[in-house]
Amino acid sequence: MKRRQFNRHLIDLAAATASVSLLSQCSGETPRKNARYDTASPRTGGQPIAIASTEGLLALSLTATSQTQTIAGKPLNLLAYNGQVPGPVLEVRTGDVVRLTLVNHLSSPTNLHYHGLHISPEVDDVFREVAAGERYTYEFQIPKTHPAVTGWYHPHYHLQVASQVFDGLAGPLIVRGALDDIPEIRQAAEALLVLKDFEPKLQGGSQNLSTLAKRWGREGRLLTANGQQNPMVKLPHNGLLRLRLINASASGVYQLRLPDHPWFLIATDRGAIAEPIELETLLLSPGERAELLIPGSREPGNYEIVSVPYDRGLSEMIESMGEAARQMPGIVLPKHATIATLQYQPSDRKAPLLLPQQLIPVEPLPEPEIHREFVLDHGIDRSAGSTGFTINGQSFVMGRVNTHVRLNQVEDWHIINRASMAHPFHLHTNRFQVIERNGQPEPFRAWKDTVAIGSYESVTLRIKFEDFAGQTVYHCHILDHEDQGMMGIVDIQT
Ligand code: C2O
Ligand code: CU
Ligand code: CU
Repeated sequence: MKRRQFNRHLIDLAAATASVSLLSQCSGETPRKNARYDTASPRTGGQPIAIASTEGLLALSLTATSQTQTIAGKPLNLLAYNGQVPGPVLEVRTGDVVRLTLVNHLSSPTNLHYHGLHISPEVDDVFREVAAGERYTYEFQIPKTHPAVTGWYHPHYHLQVASQVFDGLAGPLIVRGALDDIPEIRQAAEALLVLKDFEPKLQGGSQNLSTLAKRWGREGRLLTANGQQNPMVKLPHNGLLRLRLINASASGVYQLRLPDHPWFLIATDRGAIAEPIELETLLLSPGERAELLIPGSREPGNYEIVSVPYDRGLSEMIESMGEAARQMPGIVLPKHATIATLQYQPSDRKAPLLLPQQLIPVEPLPEPEIHREFVLDHGIDRSAGSTGFTINGQSFVMGRVNTHVRLNQVEDWHIINRASMAHPFHLHTNRFQVIERNGQPEPFRAWKDTVAIGSYESVTLRIKFEDFAGQTVYHCHILDHEDQGMMGIVDIQT
């Protein structure tokens, strides 16, 4: 039933987004370097370059340009911030002021979204247009009470989001805070991996994207971490490694494992959990982040972080369509891959550095005053024109408010995926706690802003709309789905 319906849409719907041809223009400026992450340039391996705040201020410009960059030995037409893919690591502390000038040297409009920050939607405004050739300065303060988070920044200009992110525009954004002050965390080595796929036949605003790949959500065959295939990450013997992971892929879901080696979850999208939890598999949907602590307590050697196949739904259908579908650029069937390799480093430490027992308490939110239902599905909303992805039967229309909420109110959002494809759900501005999945209570509390939702699954999110009134959005973080209408506006009123 669903399958037939989906196929019909594939045939009926013409691709809505015209691809853009991107002019190669001047390069970005040289970023100031920082102590924590500037061990190497992204081109020579290791960690991406970081730009940190000084004396409470992070002032910089980010210039978006199109350029050729070699990824996994292949020269690709990409989009970059300050000449880097992924973009520079921005590092701030709670209470800091950020003054960031976005310079648009692309041939299409763009903007910035600060995914993971609790700041006003008047600043973190996805409806803002920074036209080709223009610049815009974003200025805001990270609230003093903000948790320490691994966030990221990426463009959010509707209809261009998937292609601009897929072409390389995304960078990490680290907020340091209370979690960083825990003694064991302070002694840990740090590394960061931005997970991102590339597809030579599709980069550079290519016209090659088939309708099927666009509906599925484009994916690339080159799986990278920090723009490299299987980079080495140093793990101090008897020490601790704090590893930050960001899924900056436009559509790909990673199911990560570290075979024969322990790793512990310490933080999710919006910061620390109450205590380290040993993990077997870490599922990371587009937009999700995680922080792990890895003790260097095993036999010294190399240990691979692998991604095991994850089916977003419809693989079977694509498979049944035969070679033609499998050859379409942008369609990648679930596969096994090595993401990065942990490499033990000798250290003077005789006794192992122990994991912290406690992290930061995750306060439960009070019982909700309001319950709402959000049904994710595939279909046509005539009032929105032909798009094909809906939330409560509606596709995104610029300026149309879909949900009205009150500031300081607590709500339970029951998200029901009636579709045969996974649709990871993301809320801007505010964080939430996942209360239930498919009717079962979640095993532990955590602060999130993006949640994996598989085909036909449902989750219940508990949200308190805090501090900021105004209009913001929620959407599927498979960015092709967002561009095709799977997004709504929530108006937070005082
Ligand atoms: Cu990561 Cu609406 O975004
Ligand atoms: Cu976001
Ligand atoms: Cu989706």
